[in-house]
Amino acid sequence: MTFDIRQQDVFAFLDSLPSESVDLVVTDPPYSGMNQHLQLGHGRIVGDYKDAGNGGKWFAEFQDDPENFRALLDEFYRVLKPDRHLYIMFDSYSMLTLGPIVREVFDVKGILVWDKVNIGMGRYYRRRHELVIFASKGVRPLSSKDRPDIITVKRLYRTEYPTQKPVAVFDAMITASVEPGFVVIDSFVGSGSSAVAALKAGCTFIGADIAERAVSIAQWRAAMFATTGNDPLEGDHRLPLPRGLQVDDMTQDTAA
Ligand SMILES: C[S@@+](CC[C@H](N)C(=O)[O-])C[C@H]1O[C@@H](n2cnc3c(N)ncnc32)[C@H](O)[C@@H]1O
Repeated sequence: MTFDIRQQDVFAFLDSLPSESVDLVVTDPPYSGMNQHLQLGHGRIVGDYKDAGNGGKWFAEFQDDPENFRALLDEFYRVLKPDRHLYIMFDSYSMLTLGPIVREVFDVKGILVWDKVNIGMGRYYRRRHELVIFASKGVRPLSSKDRPDIITVKRLYRTEYPTQKPVAVFDAMITASVEPGFVVIDSFVGSGSSAVAALKAGCTFIGADIAERAVSIAQWRAAMFATTGNDPLEGDHRLPLPRGLQVDDMTQDTAA
């Protein structure tokens, strides 16, 4: 099992990858747009959004304006081999604003719904889902023909990293689109859930995150999984984070 997780800005990371060197892009970008729109209040996830500069508590956010997002997609297209897939996660608001841009670059094949089973926050309808655009560069079938477009996986609570997604969500996407030995990338790796799913599928994983803490956690997690076969952040084999990576005074009760 091989992995390489780097502390890098998304564009520096993608720039370092040769053209047509990647077999699958699967990623979960930070969307400031929705959060600013909803004025979520005090720093549950990335600090206080009402503060100029976001409070900066957890991580500096990717600027999700349409131009930047289009540039990101162009880079994903460049590094992806022909006849390969791409999965990008969206919340409802970023889907409305940025989702259509994916069609300018990729062949959008469908939208997946991640049903988190348990209800979340929301002033009107309370959120229970996230969305994923599934797209291709060229033509590639899925690994089987009986996959539903709803991924039903319970959200995680009391996670070690804010916005940490269940590995099973990435399992559903990755196993549909890879063969063993494929190179999978995630340029917003966070806690490394996508890394664990990629390694589990027998792939090589290359990831990046701008946040030092994310990279340390993801590197530790991927290394633990590669050596023991157990995920230290989920399931029956959870372990405390190593010293220096613990949250200390930052509290969170819900992720994703
Ligand atoms: C939604 S989280 C990803 C969570 C991840 N899927 C998981 O399960 O833990 C988005 C990540 O993007 C990172 N990020 C924000 N701006 C970035 C940038 N400019 N370049 C690279 N990573 C960035 C954040 O530090 C954060 O960890």
